[in-house]
Amino acid sequence: MAPVMSVTTSSDPVTPESTATAGSASANGAVTARPGREVVFSGMQPSGGFHIGNYLGAVRDWVTLQDQHRCFYCVVDLHALTQSYDAAEMKGRVLDMAVELLACGIDPERATLFVQSEVAEHSELAWILSCVAPYGELSRMTQFKEKGERAEYVNTGLFTYPVLMAADILLYRATRVPVGEDQIQHLELTREIVRRFNNRWGELFKEPLPLHREPLRILGLDGKQKMSKSLNNYVGVGDAPEVIRKKISNAFTDETRLRKKDPGHPESCYVCGLQRFFSPEAKVAELHEGCRTARIGCVDSKRALAEAMVETLAPIGERKRQLLSQPGRVEEILHAGAEQARRVARETLAEVRERLGLLPRRP
Ligand code: TYM
Repeated sequence: MAPVMSVTTSSDPVTPESTATAGSASANGAVTARPGREVVFSGMQPSGGFHIGNYLGAVRDWVTLQDQHRCFYCVVDLHALTQSYDAAEMKGRVLDMAVELLACGIDPERATLFVQSEVAEHSELAWILSCVAPYGELSRMTQFKEKGERAEYVNTGLFTYPVLMAADILLYRATRVPVGEDQIQHLELTREIVRRFNNRWGELFKEPLPLHREPLRILGLDGKQKMSKSLNNYVGVGDAPEVIRKKISNAFTDETRLRKKDPGHPESCYVCGLQRFFSPEAKVAELHEGCRTARIGCVDSKRALAEAMVETLAPIGERKRQLLSQPGRVEEILHAGAEQARRVARETLAEVRERLGLLPRRP
């Protein structure tokens, strides 16, 4: 049985604690660089199924980081165009994703939250970067190969998807990118693109790094594949308590534990692994010991996990309800965020155009 997550290693980690030198952004969110402060960028597709893999792998770090760094968080609707979707649903999905992020604790006073397609510079820089992005490496991207296999036909956007990601990051000169394990390869490609850009047009960008030594890969309820909306193996952050209980009751546990009196192996059990993210350490130790000594069974273990999840996610649901009761508020936040983002993006692009020998754009 696979454990709840797998782990990869990256160098030079910055933990949220290690660079706590900066305060908050000004009330209007104006960009203020402070010594020791990093620029953080990350993105989330409006996939219509915000799940605990997204939350644990990325968004809970986004929340912590906004107190210490200059953070840009983006709903990446242009990336979502690479998959088939219903255009009538897209606007709703984008707004839903923004609501989810705000409900998780993204604070527009401390971070810039915006929608990718509202800042046209993302597409423009992506084209420029595609002129240095190595074709061979793009064709080796695991996600491209996996998505390509599942797609009816393979569109070019799916292929150049990581180049748009590189543009997202570099427009803001971001140096730290909090993502789950599945995006680490794309981030490495961004670093390669930076090297090639700097080599061809002169040192301009820094190579961005992931945040953690150990990026997370949360497995889905099947206990085998990555948790994802498209595989329908997920627990949604917005799922109702009864839905969470039902999903967890069907989750895989320890395959080698056939009867309740058999001793369990919490270290390789999916349900026991997830408990670590939702219960205090002492409670987890108690549950794992109970499992190991067969004092508690897998059903008890699942119940404990489901209740801890329901309790952890309840405040997010409450904040979501509050936001939804203020019509127009989320759009306002996103438009203000796009204004802030655009100011930075334009400056970067002006510098890039100059390096490339393109005519300066008139304001
Ligand atoms: P997306 O929308 O697929 O996922 C958003 C974030 O959630 C993480 N994640 C997971 N982490 C752990 N376990 C899982 N099962 C799991 N599933 C998803 C992802 O790693 C990601 O951090 N291409 C990106 C979005 C993007 C982006 C960027 C990210 C666009 N531009 C620039 C960083 C920087 C994506 O599709 O993520």
